[in-house]
Amino acid sequence: MAIFRHDVLIIGSGAAGLTVALKLPVDTDVAVLSKGKLNHASTWYAQGGVAAVLDKTDSLESHVKDTHIAGAGLCHDDAVRKTVENGPDAIRWLIDLGVDFTKLDEGDGGEFGYHLTREGGHSHRRIIHAADATGIAISSALIENVHKRKNVTLYEDRIAVDLIREDADNQKAADNSQQGRCIGAYVHNIETDTTDVFLAKFVVLAAGGASKAYLYTTNPDVATGDGIAIAWRAGCRVANMEFMQFHPTCLYHPKAKASLVTEAIRGEGGRLLLPNGERFMHRFDERAELAPRDVVARAIDYEMKRLGADCLYLDISHRPADFIIHHFPTVYAKCLQLGIDITRDPMPIVPAAHYTCGGVITDLNGQTDVPGLYAIGETASTGLHGANRMASNSLLECFVFGEAASQHMTSLMHSVAMPDKAQEWDESQVTEAEEDVVIAHNWDELRRFMWDYVGIVRTVKRLERAWHRADMLKKEIAEYYSNYKISKDLLELRNLVVISELIIRSAKARKESRGLHHVIDYPELADNPTDTILVPGEIDD
Ligand code: FAD
Ligand code: SIN
Repeated sequence: MAIFRHDVLIIGSGAAGLTVALKLPVDTDVAVLSKGKLNHASTWYAQGGVAAVLDKTDSLESHVKDTHIAGAGLCHDDAVRKTVENGPDAIRWLIDLGVDFTKLDEGDGGEFGYHLTREGGHSHRRIIHAADATGIAISSALIENVHKRKNVTLYEDRIAVDLIREDADNQKAADNSQQGRCIGAYVHNIETDTTDVFLAKFVVLAAGGASKAYLYTTNPDVATGDGIAIAWRAGCRVANMEFMQFHPTCLYHPKAKASLVTEAIRGEGGRLLLPNGERFMHRFDERAELAPRDVVARAIDYEMKRLGADCLYLDISHRPADFIIHHFPTVYAKCLQLGIDITRDPMPIVPAAHYTCGGVITDLNGQTDVPGLYAIGETASTGLHGANRMASNSLLECFVFGEAASQHMTSLMHSVAMPDKAQEWDESQVTEAEEDVVIAHNWDELRRFMWDYVGIVRTVKRLERAWHRADMLKKEIAEYYSNYKISKDLLELRNLVVISELIIRSAKARKESRGLHHVIDYPELADNPTDTILVPGEIDD
């Protein structure tokens, strides 16, 4: 077992993790862990863009208001204002890093010189983007810049297992306020199959979301909620986990592997159609195709069930072919590969799990309940998203809160001692795993019951069913974990079962339908909306 020491340990190399790394001063010794390669993150796959007020006809107040409306009454105003007000500066920073956003076509106007698109819930054009591959443009720039930073060490193929908290035997702390600090993490090296200790003055969980808890998702394989599960085990409160967002439009094709079809297609006039070619969204919401995501996903789900249809359709073919190919080259190419020419034909679409609105509770500096531990990006619950994240607000949150956390850590850097020891990782009681099939089977079972029972539309009975299954799986996995050596699949499964419990427990606790949580037994909105806050160790059912 090796021991690594850095001032700051960042778990995750997406927009959140790399923003923190780049915003820390160059004399801070930083480590960034990535479960795969650096670009294996949801950030890489982002299509639509980043929301920010960049046009004279738009206003901060309007972005704030739209976010609150999309969030169905649960957004925290301080988090919303902080994010929105820092939006234009975050975009300038990205442009300075070299992100090549799509420029305005000649004669389009607009003070920033960049094309702004629209997405659901936004009352203005305010999404800056790099065609429909914004994530690749942003990730590439972040990765290129972080490679230039001599103070940052990048560790790929490392999976954080659990956090290390300072205990009574390991007191280097100067005063009581540092007792129980987070001082590092156990980290499994996937290549060498060994588990090391990483010690740090500050630890940042930037491990992304948890949409892999569902059978169908737009997310890459890394999105197994590790950050949230790890924080929960370390003693952090978690909020609003019932609000799992389903993106309305994923390509429906046996070879498409849940490819996203960006909402910006609807922003540029794309129409949702029934199998008979009829539009239907106006029957559900006056904003039609540009209603917030929860409304559109639910409407599609309703129509698919009503008609017994396998999918519905999204059509942009009424726009000129060169416009479509220029603005949506990724979706165009992907569809063409599958034999669909979107300049002429509608795309078959279905909703899929997309974004974790809840997460580890933080303050406006990204600090969690555990001293020394921060959570940023999709892992966190800052209060920005409420009951339904507005499109393209999530990348913005990564940049704004990433910067806030770096500033906060920097202000404390000299008052925190570098931890010097921690208990070694103990493998003396476990043996080589014998039946990997058990892990594969449990993964599949979990994602299926979450899809069937805890999806877009819920009932109390289905939630109870899911709860019992999750409970059984939890016991099986705990037994497996205590008997066998760890592997990436086992660690992810162990985290996913925690995530599914947190989602189901939160969903059971919310006795109303709000935003992304729609439960047939409680169809109305409650009068006084509150966050669902789960506290480790507290039994509430
Ligand atoms: P991620 O980018 O997911 O990064 C997580 C990192 O954590 C990865 O490096 C991963 O390897 C690492 N990690 C995870 N677990 C561990 C572990 N145990 N140990 C070590 N490392 C670990 N949002 C927008 O605002 N605009 C968009 O246009 C947009 N489009 C999207 C399109 C798609 C297809 C998807 C999936 C999401 C989209 N989103 C969009 C959402 C947005 O991309 C994500 O919310 C955001 O990128 C999350 O960034 P993050 O840094 O928090 O997490
Ligand atoms: C999209 O491009 O539709 C995704 C945008 C988002 O998730 O914010």
